[in-house]
Formats: sequence, C-alpha cells, structure tokens
Amino acid sequence: MSTGTMKKSHSQWSSRMGFMLAAAGSAVGLGNIWKFPYMAGQMGGSAFVLTYLLFMFIIGMPILVLEWLIGRRGQKNPIHTMEDVAVSEGHSKSWRWVGIIGVLGSFLILSFYSVIGGWATDYIVLAAKGTFEGVNGKTTALIFDNFKADVGSLLTWHTVFMFATAFIVALGVGAGLERGCKLMMPGLGILLLVLVGYAIYASGHAFYKACDFLFTPNWSALNGTAILAALGHAFFSLSLGMGIMMAYGSYLGKDVDLLSTARTVVILDVVVAVLSGIAIFPLVFANGLEPAAGPGLIFVTLPIAFGNMIGGTVLGILFFIFLTFAALTSSISLLEPTVELLEEKTHMGRKTATIVISILIWALGIACILSFNKWADVKFFDKNIFDSLDYLTSKIMLPITGLGTVIFGAYMMKQKRIQEELNLTNFWFKIWRVLTSIVIPIAIVAILVFGLQH
Ligand code: TRP
Repeated sequence: MSTGTMKKSHSQWSSRMGFMLAAAGSAVGLGNIWKFPYMAGQMGGSAFVLTYLLFMFIIGMPILVLEWLIGRRGQKNPIHTMEDVAVSEGHSKSWRWVGIIGVLGSFLILSFYSVIGGWATDYIVLAAKGTFEGVNGKTTALIFDNFKADVGSLLTWHTVFMFATAFIVALGVGAGLERGCKLMMPGLGILLLVLVGYAIYASGHAFYKACDFLFTPNWSALNGTAILAALGHAFFSLSLGMGIMMAYGSYLGKDVDLLSTARTVVILDVVVAVLSGIAIFPLVFANGLEPAAGPGLIFVTLPIAFGNMIGGTVLGILFFIFLTFAALTSSISLLEPTVELLEEKTHMGRKTATIVISILIWALGIACILSFNKWADVKFFDKNIFDSLDYLTSKIMLPITGLGTVIFGAYMMKQKRIQEELNLTNFWFKIWRVLTSIVIPIAIVAILVFGLQH
C-alpha cells in the first residue's frame, strides 16, 4: 500500500486511514475467503472456528500491537528494526533473526499464494464466459478438477498473478492501488453479504446445518492438529510473524492509537472470514459436497451460487475481480520485505531486485502447481509440495517468529514505556502483562510441542 504518502502526510486522520487501509489490505486476502473455509471444513468445523476466533483476540491482537509498536520504534525494515530496538534496549543484535526468518517465510508463502491468486484470476474469465450458468455441485467439481489437471493454464494464471504483484511492487505502490482498494474492499464486503443472502434463501435447511457445523461447539473434534492449525491461521490471517506489520508500523505517527486500530483490523479480518464461511457451507451441505474437500472448496461451491442466481454472471465476475484484488493487496505485502532486503544488501536497484526475487518465487510456484497434478506423489513427510510449504510456514515459522516477538516485547523491552505508549490504565496493563509475558508464550510453546507430534 502507499506507505510513502503516509510518511509525508501530517494530517492525523488521513495518516491513520491510510495506515488502516494498508494493514487491512494486507490482512484481508485469500486467507479469509479461500483458506479459512477450507481449513474449517477439514478440521471438523466449530472446534477449529471457535479456537481460531479466540486466538485472533488473545494472541493475534497483542502480537499485532507489538509488531506495530516495535516497528514504530525502529523505523526501518524488520531485520534492522529488530536489531536496533534490541541494541537500544541493551540486548544482543541476534534478535534480528526474528526478522530474517520472517523475510524467508514471506518468500515461501508467496510462492503458493500466487498460484491460488492465479486460480481466482482465471475464475474471472470462466465467469465471464458463462461457464457457470446453471451448474450444480457435480459440474463445478468437474470444472475445477479439469482446471487443476491443466498445467498450462495453472502456469499461465500463476504467471499473470505474479507479474501483476511484481509490477505493482516495482513501481512503488501508487495512488491507483490505494484508491482501487478503497472501492474494492467495500465491494467485496457487499458481495459477500449478497452471497450469504443467497445461501440463506437457496439452501433451506442446509443453512442451519452449516451454522451448526461452524458454530455449535463440538469439542470432540479438537485435537493438537486443529489447535495448531487455528494458531497458525490466526497469524497467517493477520499477516503476523513476517515482519510485514512491523514494516507498516515504521511509517506510523506517534499519535495513532495502536490498540483501537488493532481492534478494528482484527474485527474486520474475522468478519470477512466468518461471512465467507456462512456463504460457502450452506452450499456445501445443500449440494452434497464434501466439507473436507481442501483447497478447491470455494472454487467448487461459489460458482453454484453464481450459476443459479439472478444476475449471477455479473456478480460472479465482480466477485472474482474483488477476490483477485484482495489477494493482490496481500501479495504485494508478501513481496515487499524480500525486495527491500535485496535492495539494501546488494545495491541492486529496486526494479532489478523485484525481478530477481519474483522469478525465484515464480519458479518455486511451479513446483507447487505440479503438486496438484504431475507431482502429486512427490511427498515430504507424507505431504505434497503445496501442503509442505503451507505446513512449514503457517504451522512452524509463523508461530516461532510470533513467539520471538512476544518474548522480546515482554522480557526485553522497558515495560513502563510500553504502558505509556499504549495508554493503558494500571488495570489493563496488568492484563496486558499477564497475556504477553505468560499466557501467550506458554500457549504458543505448548501448541507447537503438542501439535507437531500429530
Ligand atoms: N494475511 C493475508 C491473507 O489472509 C496473507 C498474508 C499477507 C500474509 N501478508 C502475510 C500471511 C504475511 C502471513 C504473513 O490472505
């Protein structure tokens, strides 16, 4: 997002708005609309959903605040920010490893993120061609399976998406995208509401079944795998643990209230995810589809809605445009840290750095594409390449950097100053202390140890 304009802007309101938009643009993406529903389906519904909601507020939100706070102190890229803030608090430079793992992680995430962004882009074209008119669950599954087997078109759309990401990052993010974002995000919200409306109207009894599946506590489905998945997804969904929010924090003015801004971003992020779930699962149940279908879930369900509702073709086109756009505002935030690093460490220009990194990410994305077809049997620890990349980043790297951030914030920084910066009364500061120094670190370690054994 256009962080550059934020730096120059002196007016309080516009700087807070610009910042919120950048943070929300990074947070709201494929994670909410594509990943959250399919994970909920795979993990047995409500147990995962409720755990994720809990983690978003008690773990995600404090770490989000800490990343912004540290970023605002450091005023640099995440690696140097960690280094500088650690040194100024009298600690070792080695804290920069939190930033380094973050940069590496964003590189890995983008390689599969771009492939899925490509799916969303291709679905714009499919919707425009009228492919979905009158479809049912069987036909949409067939369309998706054919698409997944077609290496040529997966590669084409992954290339298009990666190119668009690189193009925006190379130019520096212009006002166009920021303005576009202001239009697209509310558009996406409205369309999600339309889809929820359609799901209520068209799926009859299946709507209640879906709500039951998503929200009625079913703790028996809760196991180490689901808890770790919920934790990892809370980080993924808020763009935490990759230094991205830290980088955005470095453009923040002293006057911005971190807590209330974090609350708004978390609520927005959660609402988009939950709405996507409510739009998708009634269709899953009404059409006899498999909730645990995996990464293809939204691509086999939502076309049924577009194929059968009035004005569905136009709404389908718009929806996939908005989805692609939401994905782009996240993918640029995933490319930026690595580009910034290469630019600073090698004296390459911004454009060259962007091209080099994008080609590497694009190439890794090809391996990910092949894991959906030709290389489906290439497995690491029983997981194909796509699943392995996702597992390594969401379930290992993000929680570990999150843990590093919270330990740094709770034990390495002077607490009095944090209390002043966050404007907390003594009562709320006690709660903050208990959360950041005890609850969150213990929870992350326990979940990692417990979850990785499964
Ligand atoms: N949060 C984004 C989403 O939900 C994805 C994303 C962007 C991300 N930047 C990130 C995930 C940094 C982890 C870390 O789609």
